[in-house]
Amino acid sequence: MVSPQDISFGLVTTWLGLVGYLILAKVVYDLVLAVYRIYFHPLRRFPGSKLAVASYWYETYYDVFKGHQYVWRIKEMHEKYGPIIRTNPDDVHIHDPDFFDALYGLKLDKWAWWTRGFAVPTAGGMTVEHEIHRKRRGALNPFFSKASIVANMPVIQEKLAVMCERLDKIKGSREVLDLEAVYLALTTDVLTQCSYGWTYDYIHHPEWAMTWKLVNTGGRASAAIVRSFPLIGAIVRSMPLSVAIKLVPPVGFMKSWMQRVGIQVKKIKSDPETMQAIKTEKRRKDTIFAQILSSDLPEDELSDERLIDEGVLIATAGSETTAWAITITTYHIMKNPDVLAKMRAELSQVEIPPGDPVAPWTSLERMPYLTAVIKEGVRMAGGMLSRLPRVYDKPIQYKEWTIPAGTPVAMTPHLVLIDENIFPKPRKFDPERWLDEDAIAEGKTTSRLDKYIVAFGKGSRNCIGMHLAYAQLYMSVAAIVMRYNLEMYQTDDSDATPTRDLFTAGVKLDSQGIRVIVHDKDEKI
Ligand code: HEM
Repeated sequence: MVSPQDISFGLVTTWLGLVGYLILAKVVYDLVLAVYRIYFHPLRRFPGSKLAVASYWYETYYDVFKGHQYVWRIKEMHEKYGPIIRTNPDDVHIHDPDFFDALYGLKLDKWAWWTRGFAVPTAGGMTVEHEIHRKRRGALNPFFSKASIVANMPVIQEKLAVMCERLDKIKGSREVLDLEAVYLALTTDVLTQCSYGWTYDYIHHPEWAMTWKLVNTGGRASAAIVRSFPLIGAIVRSMPLSVAIKLVPPVGFMKSWMQRVGIQVKKIKSDPETMQAIKTEKRRKDTIFAQILSSDLPEDELSDERLIDEGVLIATAGSETTAWAITITTYHIMKNPDVLAKMRAELSQVEIPPGDPVAPWTSLERMPYLTAVIKEGVRMAGGMLSRLPRVYDKPIQYKEWTIPAGTPVAMTPHLVLIDENIFPKPRKFDPERWLDEDAIAEGKTTSRLDKYIVAFGKGSRNCIGMHLAYAQLYMSVAAIVMRYNLEMYQTDDSDATPTRDLFTAGVKLDSQGIRVIVHDKDEKI
């Protein structure tokens, strides 16, 4: 057997000594690398903390060990060093609300290091290369166009009707509800009904979508961890379903979801009649899978794996984000009686079609005050707390700074949404800031601040589900406001204020959620 002496050239005589030398070599290597990154790297002239650029561990420390806090360190570094900084050895971060459109308007790749935190690598939204993304996105765009969402309005009406029926039964009982779980039941059922043609029927579930809420939050929290420790992601992904269900139940839940989508994809593909109809019929497709299969994407883009990734990304990207935005908007409305009164006065003028619980989105989006409330709600919900890094194959000019081609460059939507130069007193819920008298006089609901609603991202990789999110926001908020008063139960602003970067908003760790007791709208609370 080989012993340390055989390979030590007289320097190492025990295994422990060998391990010691290896650790020493790694420390020396990291120190030399840190010196290179600080003093010789192509980005060395860009401002920033030396510790942040010396090693990826700095970011890991804030996001993994301090509980998803790097966004706030980035904010502090901008306050100290200015609008452009290095945030880790290889990337640059800009905070300048007026540069958002310019940056994200370019033809950009995603940063591969960043996307590895997510488990659906072949979905359009996780595709690194701009050109491949453009084709994948092109195949799905018609499904989520405004016209398509308007055609899907009956689904929203149907699910909202069930939600209101259940709330009607509860009102007056003092039962405590987790408001996000209620809205998540709605948004998940709407999204899956529209995209897959089936649902988990959360809207009828006794606990609404509480389980899905916990799975989602866990998944979002794990992205930063997997980015720092990719081996964990690889191990979890390779676990068989039965093992995952026992060891990591949220992962097991997602795997079984993927399995169910996989069965559906196989079923569609193996039925020649269905495939024939998908390829030839011109009518609107009833699932995203049919939509993608009807596109002119080449065969290798239509694999089961890709369709499953696309299906899972849609459900995870679109359900909790929307539910959270509706929850936060509702929370602030119910905390502000003046806002509630103004909304009721405006909404009482909108006609509700017989049999429907609420007026259609197409009528509601014309109401100036409601629109201002929705915009303010989307802003307060926080959008993305994560920075969104992109890579451009040419240099990017920002003021006097030329960012070299190939450098990951990011901005953080949340930091724009709480920038006090654009939104004074950013933590105050103030729908009035969106009301633009000139626009209202012309019958419009636009505002000079609209360009700063960056919650849905911008450019060719912005949110594909924005219309669906807005339709549900308008309709759910209007339905609730016209029926109920919600009493907050042991809930305050700390449960509603984004403080952790869970990709989208995360609140304090010990939050029990936004909990409410339902009353009739005429009942005083
Ligand atoms: C208030 C609700 C929502 C917010 C705040 C939101 C926000 C965002 C943002 C900021 C992005 C860009 C992410 C990036 O650049 O990496 C994005 C992408 C995406 N969103 Fe949403 N989203 C919402 C609702 C939805 C809905 C309802 C769907 C369902 C279809 C959806 C599906 C997606 C998908 C698939 C992408 C990737 C798009 C691509 O890269 O082509 N989102 N979303």
